[in-house]
Amino acid sequence: MTLLSRVVSFGLTGLLLSAQSAAKIIYAGVNSAGGEFATQNLPGAFGTDYQFINESAINFFLNSGVNVIRVTFLLERMCPLETGLGNKFNETYFTNFQNAVNFITMAGGYAILDAHNYMRYNDPSMQPNSGSIIGNSSDPKAATTEQLASFWAELSNRFKSNPNVIFGVMNEPHDMPTELVLANDQASINAIRKSGAQQLILVPGNGFTGAQRWLNSTCSGCKPNSDVLTAIKDPMNNFAFDMHLYFDNDTSGTHNECTTAAPANLLPVTSWLAQNNYTAFLSEFGAGSNPTCFETLNNTLKWIEQNPQFIGWTYWAAGPLWGNYFLSVEPGIGPESNSTWPQILEPHIKTYQPVQSSSKRFER
Ligand SMILES: *[C@@H]1O[C@H](CO)[C@@H](O)[C@H](O)[C@H]1NC(C)=O
Ligand SMILES: *[C@@H]1O[C@H](CO)[C@@H](O)[C@H](O)[C@H]1NC(C)=O
Ligand SMILES: *[C@@H]1O[C@H](CO)[C@@H](O)[C@H](O)[C@H]1NC(C)=O
Ligand SMILES: *[C@@H]1O[C@H](CO)[C@@H](O)[C@H](O)[C@H]1NC(C)=O
Ligand SMILES: *[C@@H]1O[C@H](CO)[C@@H](O)[C@H](O)[C@H]1NC(C)=O
Ligand SMILES: *[C@@H]1O[C@H](CO)[C@@H](O)[C@H](O)[C@H]1NC(C)=O
Ligand SMILES: *[C@@H]1O[C@H](CO)[C@@H](O)[C@H](O)[C@H]1NC(C)=O
Ligand SMILES: *[C@@H]1O[C@H](CO)[C@@H](O)[C@H](O)[C@H]1NC(C)=O
Repeated sequence: MTLLSRVVSFGLTGLLLSAQSAAKIIYAGVNSAGGEFATQNLPGAFGTDYQFINESAINFFLNSGVNVIRVTFLLERMCPLETGLGNKFNETYFTNFQNAVNFITMAGGYAILDAHNYMRYNDPSMQPNSGSIIGNSSDPKAATTEQLASFWAELSNRFKSNPNVIFGVMNEPHDMPTELVLANDQASINAIRKSGAQQLILVPGNGFTGAQRWLNSTCSGCKPNSDVLTAIKDPMNNFAFDMHLYFDNDTSGTHNECTTAAPANLLPVTSWLAQNNYTAFLSEFGAGSNPTCFETLNNTLKWIEQNPQFIGWTYWAAGPLWGNYFLSVEPGIGPESNSTWPQILEPHIKTYQPVQSSSKRFER
């Protein structure tokens, strides 16, 4: 299908994609982190403290068969503390973000807009733990659920005519009532649909949205995602649960060793997804560069390729400012750009050519 006809028949394409999705990966790619970096510096300087993408890196990935990039941004930069969370944006920050998103989508890729805020707003300095939980009514400094909805109404309105945009409601909510995650997710979905945006929405759960413990309580007294998030309603029925997965001893993705068995860590959530007829998107997973981790990543990718509940994945992470961060796949720079990328990730992406070929590039 040509790109133009794909855009024109967007609604239909969406339906065809869901109908064809059995055991097919629709989206495969990487995170480009950086828009949320240096959280102690607000607003921070573009290009030094934070940066969304490196355009030549994006070209490298898209030319390698990748079709989706998850682009992180920080709510306190998009919505400065002076005006608070809501529909008043810092237009300078927004424009830089929009340039990155448009660069990806004009080149034919999908871009996931990732609010990288752990369901918190007002003090990102010590993410993931600092800042008031959005919608915590006992905290007078907390932004409200309505403010989060107002933010998503504005952002989705600005991108509703770009079919290659995917909305990532929130990165890794944690340590809060799961019912409040539900309320914030639902308010965001309602706001996005009310703006007229029809694109895919990625819906996170509690417990850092961890796939490996989706059926478990992840904080004192908080309910499992599996018990609460079944109440999610999307008027367009075009959402997937947003899931993350790491393989080190505390599933934090901060250690080089892979000690959790894959795909055993995905068995419970895969059954839950199947029983409830849901789909999931693995928007973060990452592992060290060593034989055990290679096998773990390989097994994980094979599992999600074999189970139609999973529609896509983005590896953690590329990004222009990582330097020698151990999980970085940034071309030519990241330690995994010449190991995990060519040995594990790229070979899987190459097997998705039939899916890739249906997403032609935008003409510039
Ligand atoms: C982008 O990546 C290229 C190739 O690695 C590099 O030469 C260039 O300096 C980078 N640009 C920015 C703005 O990071
Ligand atoms: C908006 O962002 C720009 C670029 O980072 C910055 O110079 C400016 O101070 C920001 N404005 C506010 C109100 O944060
Ligand atoms: C909500 O805010 C109150 C008051 O600051 C605080 O004591 C409580 O721990 C917060 N709730 C959560 C889940 O953190
Ligand atoms: C989740 O709960 C099940 C059943 O109680 C338990 O067997 C499993 O170890 C738990 N998983 C995690 C990751 O905590
Ligand atoms: C996890 O592994 C690291 C080594 O990479 C070790 O320092 C740490 O103590 C381990 N943590 C747990 C909870 O086992
Ligand atoms: C599962 O969801 C798909 C897509 O939303 C829908 O077409 C199908 O009818 C559903 N199947 C069941 C058994 O509910
Ligand atoms: C990954 O799996 C593929 C396909 O089964 C296989 O060809 C390849 O050798 C595996 N790579 C590693 C490093 O295990
Ligand atoms: C792989 O990349 C790392 C980091 O850029 C570099 O130190 C190493 O020499 C490279 N290895 C090879 C075989 O190119």
